Amino acid sequence: MNKSLLVYLGVLFTVVASLSGLVLVPDWQFRGIQPYETEDGIRYPQPLAGSTALGREVYIDLGCVYCHTQQVRPEGFGADLDRGWGNRRTVMRDYLFEPRNLTGTMRTGPDLANIGARQPSRDWHNLHLYNPRITSPGSNMPPHPFLFTVGGDESRRPLGATPLPAEWRTPGAAYILPTSRGRHLVDYLLSLNKSVALPEAQ
Ligand code: HEC
Repeated sequence: MNKSLLVYLGVLFTVVASLSGLVLVPDWQFRGIQPYETEDGIRYPQPLAGSTALGREVYIDLGCVYCHTQQVRPEGFGADLDRGWGNRRTVMRDYLFEPRNLTGTMRTGPDLANIGARQPSRDWHNLHLYNPRITSPGSNMPPHPFLFTVGGDESRRPLGATPLPAEWRTPGAAYILPTSRGRHLVDYLLSLNKSVALPEAQ
């Protein structure tokens, strides 16, 4: 057989095989997937809206995805479940309404697929984002103080502000008040909860 024909067939085969394996078959497998209706009539997942949707943009903008995943691996593929990162593995349906993929690949920090369930305190997230070492001694997550304004007069602490713990106070800093970006980001983190039981991942 002519050599160039062989090369041509090889290239054709590679293109067709990868196109069907990576695009056509997954599309066929997942095309009909729908939200799951629980016994209480709640549809899961729900698309994010309002502040939580804006918070996801802040999450993307600040590059949180470079250090945090949002995928819980099944048993036998790592210790995600033992670490308490979720009560089940995550599956395709969990990501149904995610316009951009934030599953991530790097785990410099813990997985955040269920952080809203694991850490439901808004004050905790405010303090942790402002300076991770306040809540997590020795943390090497970068601080994000630009998501907050700082106030010094405790008696005039506005609604939505988080008091700083005594040992972190200075004369000019008694509480932190999230900016709108900070508030959206925390709303987004609190919304992350993939613990609804699904038939394909009990
Ligand atoms: C350079 C890597 C890095 C980046 C970027 C980063 N983090 Fe982290 N993050 C960490 C590490 C390491 C920890 C574990 C220590 C700690 O709790 O602070 C952590 C912990 C966390 C936790 C607590 C998780 C738990 O299970 O207790 C949350 C929530 C979090 N990060 C959110 C964020 C958000 C939101 C962003 C983006 C604004 C972000 N991180 C950016 C490294 C990072």
